[in-house]
Amino acid sequence: MVAPRIVGEGLRIDPWSSQQSTDYSRIRDEFGLGSIEGMAIPNPSMLHRRGIIFAQRDLDVVLDSSRRREPFGVLTGLMPSGRMHLGHSMVIEQVKWFQSQGADVTIAVADLEAHATRGMSLDDCRTTALKEYVLNYAALGLESDSASVYFQSRRPIVQRIGFTLGKRTTLSEMESIYGFQGETNLAHIQAPLVQVGDILHPQFEEFGGIRPIVVPVGVDQDPHIRLTRDLASRSNWFNVKPRKAGGLSIALSIQEENSSIFGVGERGRVDREVRSQIFSSIHESLSSFGYSDVISNPKHGLIEIPGATNKDRGQIRLSLLRLERHLGGLGLLPPASTYHRFAIGMTGDKMSSSRPESTIFLDDSIEDMEKKVKRALSGGQATVEEHRRLGGDCEKDVAFQYLHTFFESDDSALEEIRREYSSGRMLAAEIKRICIDKATEWLDNLAEKRKSIEDQIDLFLSDDAR
Ligand code: TRP
Repeated sequence: MVAPRIVGEGLRIDPWSSQQSTDYSRIRDEFGLGSIEGMAIPNPSMLHRRGIIFAQRDLDVVLDSSRRREPFGVLTGLMPSGRMHLGHSMVIEQVKWFQSQGADVTIAVADLEAHATRGMSLDDCRTTALKEYVLNYAALGLESDSASVYFQSRRPIVQRIGFTLGKRTTLSEMESIYGFQGETNLAHIQAPLVQVGDILHPQFEEFGGIRPIVVPVGVDQDPHIRLTRDLASRSNWFNVKPRKAGGLSIALSIQEENSSIFGVGERGRVDREVRSQIFSSIHESLSSFGYSDVISNPKHGLIEIPGATNKDRGQIRLSLLRLERHLGGLGLLPPASTYHRFAIGMTGDKMSSSRPESTIFLDDSIEDMEKKVKRALSGGQATVEEHRRLGGDCEKDVAFQYLHTFFESDDSALEEIRREYSSGRMLAAEIKRICIDKATEWLDNLAEKRKSIEDQIDLFLSDDAR
């Protein structure tokens, strides 16, 4: 159906495939993701502390808003097909963390996408979304007061943004990002544009206004993030860039939509009066920053601020987006993102809902879970004698990996298990037992929470989702 995108020698990122590359440093380099290392993450969650979240784009902008106690949002989307499993919970852990740092939460039910790419009816999407996903999000501890769930099919603005920004991309670009071909059905081609609408629409006034929005994802979703960031930047009327000689520069981006507002007349002639008015508006937007030196070149549509630092860039962009919107533009800040590593499947390869033995579903019975852990790939040696001598392999051992990623939140307890297992003092059957006990506690606790919160799911729904 859709040929995966191949970059370099077989590095593939395909949001609709269950095959994924796990060469994370290569993915980070090839797609220009930023590292997490060296960033000051306040109250780091287990996923941060253990290096499972490994990359980001523009996370500094988000953390900056959080530090200043200014508004910012976190957004995610769910594909309402199948059952929710451990892999899905990783994004929710990140959403919860951003919520605890002050973010408002928007959750898209990707019913249009599921309809386009999985052939599901919109009615089935609703039932699955609420009973399976939103219920588990609530049980996992997402707070309802600052969260709001909506359906793609019921929020016209989402589809309208997809359509409007669709003007700024081409079929060839969609082909090169997603590997779409002549046989690809058109709904499938539209789905990424709807997702662009999902990610950008919270910045519209009625959904909270201009503010940084962060989207935590697995790397498989990065093509959507890149597309969204590109389309938002292309629509921006002001470009804020580092200046070679130091400081920042602001350049007008002249487009069909704004040329008369920016004073560009026939054959590119600049109307000086109109242009100088725009420039005073820009100066006004910058006044609160208190720069002593602002060099203006209205004719070339350029402003230079030698004294501005890269740290100011986020705030300057935000005030110019407000000006853009005031002048009639969209005023959209490209989204930030964070990326987590995929957890290994229990059989040692990929985790996938289509192979139930490869993961634990959030409503699996304890017996089923226990069977899966017992059969899971072990990092133990062939004989007890060898194991005592060589020790277990924590990287490969599913029981250890699941304690590490999901079930053992206490860092020192985890390190103790690592020491015991890798030295050979702890046997493979023993680490599996620990994993089963911890998973039992985790699943039981979740089931109890689901029960206690079942009748409160409505609290998570936005008005247009009721
Ligand atoms: N495409 C996502 C998936 O396959 C679902 C999704 C829809 C989404 N809209 C989104 C994810 C916005 C993140 C942000 O699961």
